[in-house]
Amino acid sequence: MNGEQNKKLALQFKNVDFHYRNAAGEIPILKNMNLSVADGGFVSIIGASGSGKSTIFRLIVGLEERTGGSIYLNEKQVADRPGKVGYMPQQDLLMPWRTVLQNAALPLELQKENHLDRGTVQNLLEAFGLKGYEDKYPHELSGGMRQRVSFLRATLSGSNVLLLDEPFSALDAMTKLFMQEWLLEQWEQQQSTILFITHDISEALFLSDRIFVITETPFTTLKEIEVPLERPRRQHDLDKKEVAELKNNLLEQFRMRV
Ligand SMILES: Nc1ncnc2c1ncn2[C@@H]1O[C@H](COP(=O)(O)OP(=O)(O)OP(=O)(O)O)[C@@H](O)[C@H]1O
Ligand SMILES: [Mg+2]
Repeated sequence: MNGEQNKKLALQFKNVDFHYRNAAGEIPILKNMNLSVADGGFVSIIGASGSGKSTIFRLIVGLEERTGGSIYLNEKQVADRPGKVGYMPQQDLLMPWRTVLQNAALPLELQKENHLDRGTVQNLLEAFGLKGYEDKYPHELSGGMRQRVSFLRATLSGSNVLLLDEPFSALDAMTKLFMQEWLLEQWEQQQSTILFITHDISEALFLSDRIFVITETPFTTLKEIEVPLERPRRQHDLDKKEVAELKNNLLEQFRMRV
């Protein structure tokens, strides 16, 4: 994106260390890790299963505590009190005792905001293909539907930073394309910053300004790839020569790791 250097940073990792601990000892994931994401950017993170993608999000929201370094959200340090982010975890974590509508509207309740009322949330549920399910409970939904409720809940957080952990992995191909397009529209309107974890290279290319690739674990930096596409984008832009080449390169990198 033009002028990215002059923009405020939505997110920054400075020399961050983190390891898990199990009976056998420490499992290092981040080692002296640095990362910056400019305000308003759309960044995807890809990497092999178990490489530490979700861990990055868990550190940002404070579900895990870094062992060294600093993490900044909107240029304020995420220390004991994590900043406000919209977070869609890899498991949907819907509350089983709340209906679809009550789950989706949770951020509004927490913020005691009235500008989005039941009617608005209901319209959004309709746009997400959940019409008629407002008063159902999570156990009555399919995996893809639960994912869409969780995704909607994250987008209603009102935060300028959205962390989406494989939000569309359980959706069928058509719904996935619809949700990708919807997400880009929202992002453009709200000028939010999105960090998006995915295993789907085409999805990362279609959505992102930049792709961060985890090439080894533990990691110190992530390999950064600029996506050579203007906006607005159409799905068939992925057929362009330079994008198709990029996709093949990325696929090759992952193939070598399996
Ligand atoms: N609570 C935990 N205790 C110990 N090890 C953990 C814990 N959570 C995750 N790990 C390990 O840390 C590594 C990174 O996990 P993480 O969930 O960040 O991977 P990921 O890249 O999101 O994988 P996936 O693509 O499968 O979701 C994995 O090897 C995992 O086994
Ligand atoms: Mg994960």
